[in-house]
Amino acid sequence: MKELLDKNNIPQHIAIIMDGNGRWAQQKGAMRIFGHRNALTAVRQSIEACAELGVKYLTLYAFSTENWARPQDEVNALMEILINSITDEVPTMMKNNIVLTAIGDIKSLPTGAQAKLQEAKEITGKNTGLTVVLALSYSGRWEIEHAVKDIVKKVVEGQIKLEDIDQQMIADHLNTKNIPDPELLIRTSGELRISNFLLWQLAYTELYFTELLWPDFRRDHLLEAVLDYQRRERRFGKTGAQIKSKR
Ligand code: IPE
Ligand code: IPE
Ligand code: MG
Repeated sequence: MKELLDKNNIPQHIAIIMDGNGRWAQQKGAMRIFGHRNALTAVRQSIEACAELGVKYLTLYAFSTENWARPQDEVNALMEILINSITDEVPTMMKNNIVLTAIGDIKSLPTGAQAKLQEAKEITGKNTGLTVVLALSYSGRWEIEHAVKDIVKKVVEGQIKLEDIDQQMIADHLNTKNIPDPELLIRTSGELRISNFLLWQLAYTELYFTELLWPDFRRDHLLEAVLDYQRRERRFGKTGAQIKSKR
């Protein structure tokens, strides 16, 4: 599979909506939480595949603003899994030169999870390889709301003028400041929607959907998605002829 990929056309940033854990467990007659507990291999293999390909950023949608509305037991289990997986994965991240960071309303997480995350960010902060961005208590509308508030505050306080506001300034007030927009979004579990993920950043992202449930997702599935991406023509509003003449 890897030999089929064009090394000069690897996305810099891949984002994944890791969906289908609950259904995976239910298909096995188990509790939904069993699915979350079995999601780590998929996470690990996706990280490894991205590192191997030379992808710079991998953003993983792990918990949305809306996911707080799930049954309390499930929310608690997800937070516990988060803390344990960070603890377990940091040594491998160090070995593989990976930086861990997060976007979302981190202050809304339980203090134990915040502390773990902060610690992992500090430990991996000096690495120079792939950056893994965990989206936690994240949603695109939440992020845009906060960017608007921050910008308006600066206008009101006279730090900037209304005329200064442009798309770059908006992007710079998002959690993803300094991270390029994803070229490729992968969503597992067959759902054909964005579910409030990276609304601003996905403007021109190529979308890839697979029926696979997240706990079944492996390295080769990620390579397959990149291969599919490489077959597409990204036009950004131009005509196909214009794009071809540039090649
Ligand atoms: C994705 O799997 C994980 C999270 C949203 C935290 P789900 O838990 O949404 O699984 P399904 O979609 O119900 O199968
Ligand atoms: C999206 O999955 C959020 C994450 C994967 C963290 P959901 O399972 O919450 O999405 P919906 O509710 O089916 O749209
Ligand atoms: Mg789901």
